[in-house]
Amino acid sequence: MTNAQKGRSYSCWLGYDPVEDAAARELGQVALRKICLQADGATGECIAAELKRAAQGLFDLEPEMVSRPSEASLVVGVGLAGDQELDEEGFLVQELTPSGSLQIAAKTDRGLLYGVFAFLRELRLGRFLLGKENPAVPLRMLNHWDNLDGSVERGYAGTSIFWDGGGLASDLSRVADYARLLASVGINGISVNNVNVHADETALIGPKLPLVARLADIFRPWGIRIFLSVSYASPVELGGLPTADPLDPQVQNWWAERARAIYSRIPDFGGFVVKADSEHRPGPFTYGRDHAQGANMLARALGPYGGIVVWRCFVYNCTQDWRDYKTDRAKAAYDTFMPLDGKFDSNVVLQIKNGPMDFQIREPVSPLFGGLSHTNQMLELQITQEYTGQQRDLCYLVPMWKEVLDFDTFARGQGSAVKDIVAGKVFSQTYSGIAGVANVGSDPNWTGHTLAQANLYGFARLCWDPNLSAAAIAEEWIQLTFGPNAKVREVILEMLLRSREIYENYTVPLGIGWMVNPGHHYGPNVDGYEYDRWGTYHRADCWAIGVDRTAKGGTGFAGQYHPPNAQMYESRETCPEELLLFFHRAGYKERLRSGKTLIQHIYDSHFAGVEQVEEMIDRWNSLAGLVDPEIFIHVAERLQDQLKNAIEWRDVVNSYFYRKSGIPDERGRTIY
Ligand code: GCU
Repeated sequence: MTNAQKGRSYSCWLGYDPVEDAAARELGQVALRKICLQADGATGECIAAELKRAAQGLFDLEPEMVSRPSEASLVVGVGLAGDQELDEEGFLVQELTPSGSLQIAAKTDRGLLYGVFAFLRELRLGRFLLGKENPAVPLRMLNHWDNLDGSVERGYAGTSIFWDGGGLASDLSRVADYARLLASVGINGISVNNVNVHADETALIGPKLPLVARLADIFRPWGIRIFLSVSYASPVELGGLPTADPLDPQVQNWWAERARAIYSRIPDFGGFVVKADSEHRPGPFTYGRDHAQGANMLARALGPYGGIVVWRCFVYNCTQDWRDYKTDRAKAAYDTFMPLDGKFDSNVVLQIKNGPMDFQIREPVSPLFGGLSHTNQMLELQITQEYTGQQRDLCYLVPMWKEVLDFDTFARGQGSAVKDIVAGKVFSQTYSGIAGVANVGSDPNWTGHTLAQANLYGFARLCWDPNLSAAAIAEEWIQLTFGPNAKVREVILEMLLRSREIYENYTVPLGIGWMVNPGHHYGPNVDGYEYDRWGTYHRADCWAIGVDRTAKGGTGFAGQYHPPNAQMYESRETCPEELLLFFHRAGYKERLRSGKTLIQHIYDSHFAGVEQVEEMIDRWNSLAGLVDPEIFIHVAERLQDQLKNAIEWRDVVNSYFYRKSGIPDERGRTIY
């Protein structure tokens, strides 16, 4: 791709356009005039290049690189004074007296890299960064669901940027640009293949290992360690062994030998991501072993080299009979993993999806958070918008993630929020973190919908500091991407902040989930999964809808939480209304807190959702001439698609419930 083909959106939040504000310009020009960089190696080169690039783009300045700190306006270095309170990845920005020069200090090159990016970000935002920062969350990771043939499972932004035709993609400069983007927001780990690992990808830990080493070489200077998703049956599929039983010494030796081979090529290899006994993927259950036995065996192979096993908790019965009212998919992960709490090796970390089901627009937080207290754990979020509009509909996910992170589990009494668990502050954990399923592909703007870049940015910023607000993150992103125009900021900010609620309004009511077309999961199909085997039922009849998940009379899911959350969800009166149908079965004529009946709420929210999309379109149109013309047209087109989708959802859902209930809309609007 040439630079012209890449377009303005290719540079995402790192488009170093000239800073116009006179004061900020002066500040930057003074600070970046003479730089003394005391970091060597590949990361040092990245830092030097970044500083030069920024100085040039932002301030039209060619910085002079000097070797003596005393001559510099900016000193960037490891092991400088004042960095005692820093973590390995933290940094300190301070003004030196009496010279007035600036210093960015860190314990490691990686810390310096983060410090430089943060400093530049703040300069561009018209702020002057001073002080110390450590990342809140240790493992800040992206999971790519990319296959070697170039396809991306649940990808909505083109093909894989890593793979094509069974090997590496032809343009690896794209990967280098990506590594820089991720480093700029502090991502430090990446898995580069789908959690559903097929034969081609299994070869990545065998004959195709050199391809992984190439990618690792690209990511390394940017402080990002590479991980692979592996098939639990690799010893059989790749090694030709008769079994993959974790207790079989041959199997253990096979993995130990693979680990040795991997680390001899990639000394800083991060480890394995494993989807086992989940949606027909192989796992220890085949051999009558539990998941601790399964995970620990891999952990012992990687342990000598400092590698970790990221073991996913997305385990449930995906061959349920829809007539079965006893089995509840929401309970499955907790039931599988709680009995194993404390049995995992110290280099295993359990990766738990934010909700107990599967990345719906509204779910309660998985009760494994707060449940597991003797196990390393990390949160899995889905940045790629599988159930949230597939990057055709606008849906800024940061507000939803904030709800998850702020959720108080009460595991150690009040103040045991998920954000503190993933930061390793609530339980003693060797590893903890957050992983996001990436929303990136080969589209010139990386994310399909240009405004979906805000989700990638926001994900990483939350990993760095989960206390940032959704609005603050959005404002940063807008300004870094679109520049300082106040009107642009105001319009896009409002669009982003309202988008989740709007999407929810025209899609699935009150936490019940799904109602999507099977397979690809875009667009409405209320009964699409209702008589299927996936355990995702809404149970609507002519009187009521919803699943009783109470401990008293229901599936018992609500009882998996600590009090007072358990009581809150158990009672119809105290259950947050946006989750009403997740926890309770409710009649169409039942009154909600608003005074409306449930059925009227369904009608109203669906009509409102479409109107809100129309309003968004008007708002976006008011930006004509104020944003890059290509981006303007692109977003306008996506919004038209979104409107079509919203209308389809509104009419299908409203007609469905009108036909089921026979209750007309109070306001007499058209329902089919
Ligand atoms: C969802 C998604 C799958 C994916 C799975 C997982 O069910 O639809 O494509 O493989 O999650 O997280 O493993």
